[in-house]
Amino acid sequence: MLYIGVDLGTSAVKLLLMSGDGKIEKIVSREYPLFFPHPGWSEQNPEDWWSAVVDGLAELVHDCDKSQVAGISFGGQMHGLVILDEKDQVIRPAILWNDGRTTEECDYLNQVIGKETLSKYTGNISFTGFTAPKVLWVKNKEPENFDKIKKIMLPKDYIAYMLSGSFCTDVSDASGMLLFDVKNKTWSKEMMEICGVREDQLAKIYESYEVVGTLKPELASKLGLSESVKIAAGAGDNAAAAVGTGTVGNNVCNISIGTSGTVFISNESFNVDQNNALHSFAHADGNFHLMGCMLSAGSCSKWWMEEILGTKEYAKEEKEITKLGENHVYFLPYLMGERSPLNDPYARGTFIGMTMDTSRTDMTQAVLEGVAFAIRDSLEVVKSLGIEITRSKLCGGGAKSPLWRKMFANILNIELDLIESEEGPGYGGAMLAAVACGEYASVEEAAEKLVKVVNTVKPDPELVAKYEAQYQKFRQIYPAAKELFKKIV
Ligand code: XUL
Repeated sequence: MLYIGVDLGTSAVKLLLMSGDGKIEKIVSREYPLFFPHPGWSEQNPEDWWSAVVDGLAELVHDCDKSQVAGISFGGQMHGLVILDEKDQVIRPAILWNDGRTTEECDYLNQVIGKETLSKYTGNISFTGFTAPKVLWVKNKEPENFDKIKKIMLPKDYIAYMLSGSFCTDVSDASGMLLFDVKNKTWSKEMMEICGVREDQLAKIYESYEVVGTLKPELASKLGLSESVKIAAGAGDNAAAAVGTGTVGNNVCNISIGTSGTVFISNESFNVDQNNALHSFAHADGNFHLMGCMLSAGSCSKWWMEEILGTKEYAKEEKEITKLGENHVYFLPYLMGERSPLNDPYARGTFIGMTMDTSRTDMTQAVLEGVAFAIRDSLEVVKSLGIEITRSKLCGGGAKSPLWRKMFANILNIELDLIESEEGPGYGGAMLAAVACGEYASVEEAAEKLVKVVNTVKPDPELVAKYEAQYQKFRQIYPAAKELFKKIV
C-alpha cells in the first residue's frame, strides 16, 4: 500500500508518497506566502495552505497506482491559531508559531495567573508563540472576531478538517496550545475558563497514529483516490520529524534545523524542568517528550545569505570558512525574539566583535555558529535535568550542510546520526498514516523497521575544546544586552 505524509511547513508544504516498506516514491512541494504585517508579527492564510495541499496532492498521486493509496497523515507547523466561524469560513489570517505580538497576554498568563499555576494545569508556561495567548490577544484586540469563533484549530488540523470533515487534533500538537493538560491528555477546564473558550470550540483529541476519518467523497473523486483513504491525526512537525528519524523510546534525542531549531528528547514518562524552560509535550508514539525551540535557526542562514549577501549559493559561501573555532565575531540569532530557553520576545539578532579585518566569511561563520551555540543553550537545560545526551539524530534543511553538521557536533560535543530518508516531518507523517492503517503495529515498530542511520558525524576533541572556550564567551553576550533589547524596540 501507499501512504502520504503532508509536512505543512512555514515556507512550503512538502508532500511525500511512501510505500509500505518505507521507500520514498515521490516528493512534491508548493510554496505559499508568509506575511509580517508588523515587526514581530507572522501570519499566513489557511486558504493558501489548502490550495497548495490540493494542488500538491494531485501532482503527488498523478502517476502512481491510485488504488494503492491507503492513508494520509501530517506533520504540521505548531501553535498557529486558525479560527473558523459558524459557516466554516476562516475569520482572520492564522497567527503563527513565530509571531511575537502577545507579550501583554503572556505577561498576564505568566505573572497574573502565574507560571506555577499554568504549569500545574498544562505542564508548561506561556510563550508568545503558543496558542492560548493568541486566543486572548484576539479576545482583547479583535473582540468582533473573537465573538464569531466557532472552531479553534491548529494549522495541520485545518487541512485534516478540509480533507475529512473531522474536527480533530492530536496530543502532540494540542500540547503546544497551553489549553491542554498534557499529563492527562485532556483539555484543561481551567485554561479554557482563563481564555474564555468553550470545549465545543476545541477539537476532539486523538493519538497521532489514530484514524480521524476518511477522505471526503468529492475530494476522492477529484484526486482519483478511493473514498476509503484513511486520514490519521498526525503530529506537530517536531514530533513527526522525531518519528521520521526514529526518535522514540526513552531519552533519545533529535535535533532539527528547519526555519526553527529544536532539541527534542523522547521520554517514556512525563517530565517538567524546574523553570519550564523546555516544553513538556505529548509525543506521537503515545508517550511524552521535552523540547527546546529556538525561533530562528535555518532562517538565520537564509536571511544572511539571501537578504543580506544577496546570494543563493550557500555552499560557495560556506566553502570559504576554514578556521573553525577561531572566530572573533559572534552572532546572537534572535531575529524573531527567542523562545527556548530565554523566553524573550524582545531579544534581537546581534553581531559583536568585528574589527577592520573582519571579512564576509567571518560573519557567515558567526551566523552558523550562533545558531549552534543557541541550540547548545537548550541542550544545557536538558543536561541540568540529569538527562545525559551523548548522541542525537540531526535533521532538517540545516543537516544538509556538511560544514554546519561539523559545527553542531563540535559545539554540542555529541555524535550526530544522519538518516537515510532525511525527510523529517513528511516521512514521519507517512509513517503515522502507515501505523493508522495497520501496516505496522506501533510507531516504535515502524521506526525500528524503517529508519536507517547512514552516517555519523563525530566531534573532534581539539575542536570541541576550542568551541567550548567560544561558547563560554557566547553565553555572556545575551545577558549583557538583555535590558538594552527592551529599550530599542
Ligand atoms: C515548536 C515550534 C516550531 C514550529 C515550526 O514549538 O514552534 O518548531 O513547529 O514549524
